[in-house]
Amino acid sequence: MSRRYSRITGTGSYLPERRVSNEELVAELAQRDIETSDEWIAGRTGIRARHIAAPDELSSDMAVHAARAAMQAAGCAAGDIDLLIVATSTPDMVFPSTATIVQRKLGIAGCPAFDVQAVCCGFIYAISVADAMLAAGSAQRALVIGAEVFSRILDWNDRSTCVLFGDGAGAVVLEAGEVPGILACDLHADGRYTDILCVPGHVNRGQVMGEPLLRMDGQAVFKLAVQVLDKAARAVLDKAGLGDGDIDWLIPHQANLRIMQSTARRLHLPMEKVIITVHEHGNTSAASVPLALDTGIRNGQIKPGQRLLLEGVGGGFTWGAVLLNL
Ligand code: UT7
Repeated sequence: MSRRYSRITGTGSYLPERRVSNEELVAELAQRDIETSDEWIAGRTGIRARHIAAPDELSSDMAVHAARAAMQAAGCAAGDIDLLIVATSTPDMVFPSTATIVQRKLGIAGCPAFDVQAVCCGFIYAISVADAMLAAGSAQRALVIGAEVFSRILDWNDRSTCVLFGDGAGAVVLEAGEVPGILACDLHADGRYTDILCVPGHVNRGQVMGEPLLRMDGQAVFKLAVQVLDKAARAVLDKAGLGDGDIDWLIPHQANLRIMQSTARRLHLPMEKVIITVHEHGNTSAASVPLALDTGIRNGQIKPGQRLLLEGVGGGFTWGAVLLNL
């Protein structure tokens, strides 16, 4: 019997309507005596704007928008989906999972639905899990979504983090078949680095215990990210028996332009082969890779049949890569 593979057949994304430019954010923060500048934000990160969810807009709402666009692109209906995975660290509720809420909103009861929590590497984890389930024959057509409302877990008085993140969602439809789409996945985590990027609070007997806002040692994350992203890229290329020259597009986690430049340099890839969207939406955690992927496909940069390297890195510490043919 021939091997089963999974392949992306459609992508979609969503950004909340409210766009906040660096200039607007700088002015807003200045009213509270928090000093920052467009020069600092854009110069250190490449971020020029972020989108902020409406007060009543949830991760599941944004996920549904992205999912509908991905299903339309794939030419399938919600009823054709038999596996639903949402990568998020900002779920609607403690439980049930955001995936089950998305399932209800899409009207597709019955198929397995669950969340994956690997922070900014969440989508890479989710698509790897979906690929394994499709290859094993557990499902035929998966909806894999990254959706986040990080604006709700930011300390808006901490200039070292609040300028970096935004809200959004991205989704793909993944279908099982005999034609190889996903060629290799590589996932890692190292729990010794929990403290460098975390939201340490939790709920206990109806009270929020500890700090429920994002804390990050930016320099430590930066240094580690650069090292592990290179290793993950090498690992998927090795698994697939391919080399640097076989990549058409690098689609990295959109957190910092300088990290993306460093990853590209190490892979001997010109920046013309890197999809960059961080300037428009900042760091959207698990949504960032599918947002960048969908943007690159819809604006015509990425073409059918090309080979893509997707990479993620985030809190945990978690990191990983996926190599695929579109
Ligand atoms: O999604 C998970 C992955 N996350 C990431 O990849 C984030 C990784 N880290 C980074 O992207 C960078 O480390 C940051 C963008 C967070 C920070 O850039 P940096 O070049 O590492 O700056 P820094 O933290 O060393 O801070 C440099 C200076 C400090 O001032 P002093 O001590 O040199 O006087 C900060 O206080 O910049 C200051 N600073 C700011 N100044 C203006 C920090 N935040 C701001 C700000 N505006 N918003």
